[in-house]
Amino acid sequence: MQDPYVLVSTRLFSRYLSSVKRFSSMMGMGESKKQVGVLGLGRMGAALAGAFLGAGHDVVVWNRSPLKAGPLLDRGARLAATPAEVATADVVLSCLSTHDTQQPVLKELTPAVLVNLTSGTPEQARDVAKWAASRGIDYVDGVIMAVPQGIGTPAARILYGGSAAAFEAHREVLEVLGEPVFLGEDAGLAALYDLALLGIMWSTMSGYLHALALVGTEGVTPERFTPMALPWLSAVGGFLAGMSAQVASGDYTTDVSALDINAAGLKLLVETSRAQGISTVVPAPLAELFTRAVDAGHGAHAIASVIEEIR
Ligand SMILES: NC(=O)c1ccc[n+]([C@@H]2O[C@H](COP(=O)([O-])OP(=O)(O)OC[C@H]3O[C@@H](n4cnc5c(N)ncnc54)[C@H](OP(=O)(O)O)[C@@H]3O)[C@@H](O)[C@H]2O)c1
Repeated sequence: MQDPYVLVSTRLFSRYLSSVKRFSSMMGMGESKKQVGVLGLGRMGAALAGAFLGAGHDVVVWNRSPLKAGPLLDRGARLAATPAEVATADVVLSCLSTHDTQQPVLKELTPAVLVNLTSGTPEQARDVAKWAASRGIDYVDGVIMAVPQGIGTPAARILYGGSAAAFEAHREVLEVLGEPVFLGEDAGLAALYDLALLGIMWSTMSGYLHALALVGTEGVTPERFTPMALPWLSAVGGFLAGMSAQVASGDYTTDVSALDINAAGLKLLVETSRAQGISTVVPAPLAELFTRAVDAGHGAHAIASVIEEIR
């Protein structure tokens, strides 16, 4: 697997490269236009197809509800009557709601290259990879770390795993959607990263919503509180590099803040939430986790030692 730090350090260069290529593409220079097939025209699939049209590619689309293709057809896309009709495209992207809904659709076609952007588990991605290999399809599994409105902008990052050869062969097409990051040949890797990153997002957002509910019990509005939360979140983000080093080395020595103090603080948060009449559903499991780690002997260690309990 490629070292994630190497990936991060190459980010600026690859962004620069993307901008140059996008500019060249807009000017009709350099890359050759390809035929791109898109299966699924929900919020995300329609954004993907729109970005390919914007970059001048020949786009063929299929959707269970064909009426949704209207705006894309007006921009020059071609509508396929069946999934099988997109199979002749140079590269086919699939973006349906789930792997379960996608499975019968994929069974209808045998494209040369399939890029799956439907969210799922690592196991589901590996199953599709096995199925694709049995049909001679080059398979790339991707996850979109962006909302539809971000597709085609520098804010979009898309993580890929699977066939490195297929990824490289179609890198320029994929760059139209956002910054592509190839994680390795294991087709399950992108889904694993996706769920790990979304876990950070969901737990952070839940913590924020709990905070709003807590200060709200005393009449503090979200508008008043959020300017405090934003720099705090960025300060918390600043701790991650140090925690990463501690987890990597297994050395949890700290002269900053020990786990027992933080476990005690979490108990205060649970008590105060209860006293203020709101649910403890967000902080209570965290208080339990930290207490378990203290009981396991990590009281004097850094917060990063909690990972031993999670593992
Ligand atoms: N939206 C985002 O911000 C976002 C971000 C990252 C990743 N994603 C991922 O992208 C994928 C698509 O998300 P979305 O936001 O575009 O969802 P969506 O707007 O709900 O669209 C779902 C798509 O799946 C199709 N579909 C659903 N059930 C089907 C079935 N039984 N047979 C055939 N087609 C079926 C829909 O067809 P109809 O139009 O006929 O209903 C539509 O094309 C998901 O896996 C999602 O996790 C989305």
